Amino acid sequence: MVPHNSATAALVSSLLFGLSLGAEPVPSLAQVIDPRTFNALGTVPPLSAEANAFVPFTPPGTSQQSLLAKPFHIYDAEFLDIIGRNPTLTLINHTSGDPLFHEAPVWHPDTDEVFFCQNAGSPAAGTGLNKSAILQKISLSSITPAITSQRNASGSVKVNVVTTNPAVINPNGGTNYQGQLLFAGEGQGANIAPAIYLVNPKSPHNATVLLDNFFGRQFNSLNDVAVNPRNGEIYFTDPTYGFSQDFRPPPGLPKQVYRFHRDTGAVVVAADGFNMPNGISFSPNGRHAYVTDSGLAQAFKGIDFTAPATVYRFDVQPDGTFENRKTFAFADRGIPDGIALDTKGNVYVGSGDGVHVWNPSGKLLGKIYLGTSTANFAFAGKGRMVILVETELYYVTLKAEGAFPGRLY
Ligand SMILES: *[C@@H]1O[C@H](CO)[C@@H](O)[C@H](O)[C@H]1NC(C)=O
Ligand SMILES: *[C@@H]1O[C@H](CO)[C@@H](O)[C@H](O)[C@H]1NC(C)=O
Ligand SMILES: *[C@@H]1O[C@H](CO)[C@@H](O)[C@H](O)[C@H]1NC(C)=O
Ligand SMILES: *[C@@H]1O[C@H](CO)[C@@H](O)[C@H](O)[C@H]1NC(C)=O
Repeated sequence: MVPHNSATAALVSSLLFGLSLGAEPVPSLAQVIDPRTFNALGTVPPLSAEANAFVPFTPPGTSQQSLLAKPFHIYDAEFLDIIGRNPTLTLINHTSGDPLFHEAPVWHPDTDEVFFCQNAGSPAAGTGLNKSAILQKISLSSITPAITSQRNASGSVKVNVVTTNPAVINPNGGTNYQGQLLFAGEGQGANIAPAIYLVNPKSPHNATVLLDNFFGRQFNSLNDVAVNPRNGEIYFTDPTYGFSQDFRPPPGLPKQVYRFHRDTGAVVVAADGFNMPNGISFSPNGRHAYVTDSGLAQAFKGIDFTAPATVYRFDVQPDGTFENRKTFAFADRGIPDGIALDTKGNVYVGSGDGVHVWNPSGKLLGKIYLGTSTANFAFAGKGRMVILVETELYYVTLKAEGAFPGRLY
């Protein structure tokens, strides 16, 4: 249980083993959640409105208030090396209902800005068939220690609408690519096809559609896009959420992961067998691909508790193909959505109650707990993260560093 020689890790590990905490403090915004406190609950509520994948879990001795008060939840001593000695979590903007802070978070190192998009299917956003979700951005250079020392600094960071030309229609996934940005768009109605867009991160934010069909057939509703640092190829997921959210027609293709070699124009299937292939990301060396499957949630079409809320891992062969699909992790709350890795190969996933962090062996190390569905987040280089919680926008400081500095490829 003690993975390295850190004295802090050893002390917290002692705590996890029920021994004394010693002199080393747990960071002020962190708390230990010892799984043994709830292994045997005695009375376990049946599946009901009070106990299901979408209701936050309150382990014995805690309350939702205490869980939120110290939001860095240490399930394993290894988590200390991720959060460091003084992690912070700060609300920097919120809305009264419009889900402006949804997905496609991507940090652009040159300008130190983070881009993200509105929810494309939510009635509260007025998007879907009626209008496209918007892209927005914030500048991280304006975020000072005076801001990060607060839990609620809402309004202290300016949020700017990004108007691209042509418009990225219903963006949902984003990543860095050769100094520019790639976005996956879900399409709209029967006539606007889902597409992969290349966007200039700087004004005038001109954009180019790189791909909008599979041999003349529309994709279903592209969800996320990632670039493998090993071969520079573009991989993307295509679930059917546009149809499940009533703004795309019935699907015309299986729910798959594709691979796009831009230089040759070749588009091939990388993997199938998903219920809802959602987030996609690669390990720092590009040898593993991780894909979240959020099939448990079918948007307006309901919930199936027996469907995946699962993170799958694949080996990526030197030729770019995927093999050895492995069940890597299952999110204990909600669905696993956006995914990113740190430089050490730990896996971070936006899930039903915050960002869950697993080590490369699939052990849950901890959570950045928000008590509600957390669709996505992005590392912004070393020690910084932006988390999107629909109507709330959070900024995090921690020790870990995102796997890709932004323009490796
Ligand atoms: C479009 O707007 C109408 C009227 O405001 C609303 O009833 C409908 O749900 C919206 N459709 C979508 C797909 O958001
Ligand atoms: C944060 O502060 C704003 C006003 O300063 C308030 O409207 C909002 O409810 C607060 N949010 C939380 C989560 O405390
Ligand atoms: C959120 O950001 C917008 C745009 O900068 C600003 O107008 C608004 O006041 C901010 N609202 C809150 C509650 O932070
Ligand atoms: C934006 O325009 C510039 C200047 O014409 C061009 O070099 C660049 O490739 C364009 N970028 C995109 C993403 O279309």
